[in-house]
Amino acid sequence: MFCAPPQPLHPSLRPRPRPLWPAPRCSNSNEAQPSPSPSSAAAAGGIRRLVLTPEGRAKLDPRPDRDFYAFPRLVTHVDDGFIATLTDLYRERLRAGCDVLDLMSSWVSHLPPEVQFGRVVGHGLNAQELARNPRLDYYFVKDLNKEQQLELEGSSFDAVLCTVSVQYLQSPEKVFAEIFRVLKPGGVCIVSFSNRMFYEKAIGAWREGTAYSRVQLVTQYFQCVEGFTQPEMIRKLPSAGGSSASPLDAVMRLFGVAGSDPFYAVISYRNFRPM
Ligand SMILES: C[S@@+](CC[C@H](N)C(=O)[O-])C[C@H]1O[C@@H](n2cnc3c(N)ncnc32)[C@H](O)[C@@H]1O
Repeated sequence: MFCAPPQPLHPSLRPRPRPLWPAPRCSNSNEAQPSPSPSSAAAAGGIRRLVLTPEGRAKLDPRPDRDFYAFPRLVTHVDDGFIATLTDLYRERLRAGCDVLDLMSSWVSHLPPEVQFGRVVGHGLNAQELARNPRLDYYFVKDLNKEQQLELEGSSFDAVLCTVSVQYLQSPEKVFAEIFRVLKPGGVCIVSFSNRMFYEKAIGAWREGTAYSRVQLVTQYFQCVEGFTQPEMIRKLPSAGGSSASPLDAVMRLFGVAGSDPFYAVISYRNFRPM
């Protein structure tokens, strides 16, 4: 069972003339140094500018997220094709033995099953879901829209992962600053997403965006924190039954079994990408 596919915009939600992520502005958030432009010198890990406007951060359902996640949802949020692509990406980018933080996690892991990692820590909003996740050595519950600071040591993870969840963050600038802080120098952050969402819980900038603008948004989340490398984007779109699609693909898609969720990932490293 999947979460709801994207819904059409309600007429009252048509994009307003005001941009949802404005020209760079100063931030007074944690570690933020007022900074008139992205090129000015904030301390590494500091927030250079805010990405979202207040409207861009707003959700249609204003109730606390913990209420929404009060009961476990033992569902898969994306299809098999998406998960296979993501697991392959992890195979390529995460080395055996590395310490991993799976931010906004649940009961399933997309880590390659054959790879032995070091410490795998999960974070989410529902303890029962996290307790069922077979890859987690530890987990903790925290509403990142209430408080962004992670009770984790600085420079302690080789990788931070965030899968099909970034659209729910209302203070992404502070969360990405925390991701930077907990990553070791050379550590990687992989943010992946598709076009599915809990519509009422996604922020305005995401709901009203396009695939292109969502990739740009996540790219800006990295760029607003001093010290992340230039983000890379990976995109894998399902073949629309064209000449390259196999008859099996077509049949699978007909039954909604595989291969229809577009895959996007934005990847950046703390300070540098190791060779
Ligand atoms: C669509 S699920 C994705 C779960 C998992 N990453 C996966 O790949 O299956 C969205 C997740 O975002 C997390 N989440 C949503 N709102 C959150 C919030 N305010 N603070 C922390 N986590 C949140 C929840 O843990 C939820 O499991």
